[in-house]
Amino acid sequence: MGRINKKAVEIFKSDPNHVISKEWIKTLQYQVDLFAAKEIKIMSRLGLGSGGRPMLDLGCGIGAFSKALRKHFPSQKIVATDNNEAFVTIFRNKLLSDPDPLTELIKWDTMNEATPPAVRKCHTVVMRLVLEYIKDPVAMLLHLKQCLPPRSLIFIIEEDDYFFQIHPDLDALWKVVKTWGLARERLDFKKYFGRQVPCVATNAGLKVLHAELIGHTNFDSDLREMFDYFVATMHLLHNHLPREIDPKEISQMERQFREYVAQNGNNCLLIVPYILTVAQTP
Ligand SMILES: C[S@@+](CC[C@H](N)C(=O)[O-])C[C@H]1O[C@@H](n2cnc3c(N)ncnc32)[C@H](O)[C@@H]1O
Repeated sequence: MGRINKKAVEIFKSDPNHVISKEWIKTLQYQVDLFAAKEIKIMSRLGLGSGGRPMLDLGCGIGAFSKALRKHFPSQKIVATDNNEAFVTIFRNKLLSDPDPLTELIKWDTMNEATPPAVRKCHTVVMRLVLEYIKDPVAMLLHLKQCLPPRSLIFIIEEDDYFFQIHPDLDALWKVVKTWGLARERLDFKKYFGRQVPCVATNAGLKVLHAELIGHTNFDSDLREMFDYFVATMHLLHNHLPREIDPKEISQMERQFREYVAQNGNNCLLIVPYILTVAQTP
């Protein structure tokens, strides 16, 4: 996991709109560790990385997913961009300690800054968990369409409604679901957004080639790791909604998860729904 260095923290403090904290970094990394390999395998099957042309990781954050892409595509040129200066600084520091000459990192606000020349050369784009934070996702995709070469592929991954199919019925899991629902309302995320993406892409004048439900399950990821990730997201949300999420409740959830795993191991089925949409520029 990347260190939050002094410079990143200073940038964060000087820009209250840019949310960054240890918890954010931890959850971004967790999510990638748990889910990325499966997503990249599915996207490769659908053409990600074909032709060896430069790939854009738009909204790369701290670079956790870019690194997973690198692992899968060792000789691919990756252009990684994000508008959050603090995240970009953290990623840049990672690249200083672990250089990757085929990754070009650019601080770019897709909505408000001129398109960097390197972006104009990318024929495939991955946007993972980015659109749900954008006020006007149609406008974002319309703009992106102008930045890319003709017939570029755009792979969009978004969470859906965080409804887990659960057996058994653990209180702690329902609390995770409820808390995320509350956070989405209060913190202005797009609710149940995955299923809306094909329509949003069409409205932006893109051709939708494919839409698929990716069910991330405890059989791919291991139950204990998934539970740890859920608890980490609760700590993250507590930072943003301190009055609504009680740390004592988080401890209770943690205990219930631990007890379940000790008694039952991986013997349940839990599904975290992500939707993958593949769209193409005209
Ligand atoms: C939840 S993070 C996802 C990070 C990474 N894609 C991953 O899967 O781990 C969403 C990212 O989108 C970035 N983002 C939001 N609005 C953006 C914009 N207008 N231009 C570029 N990046 C943006 C945020 O700064 C953040 O790093």
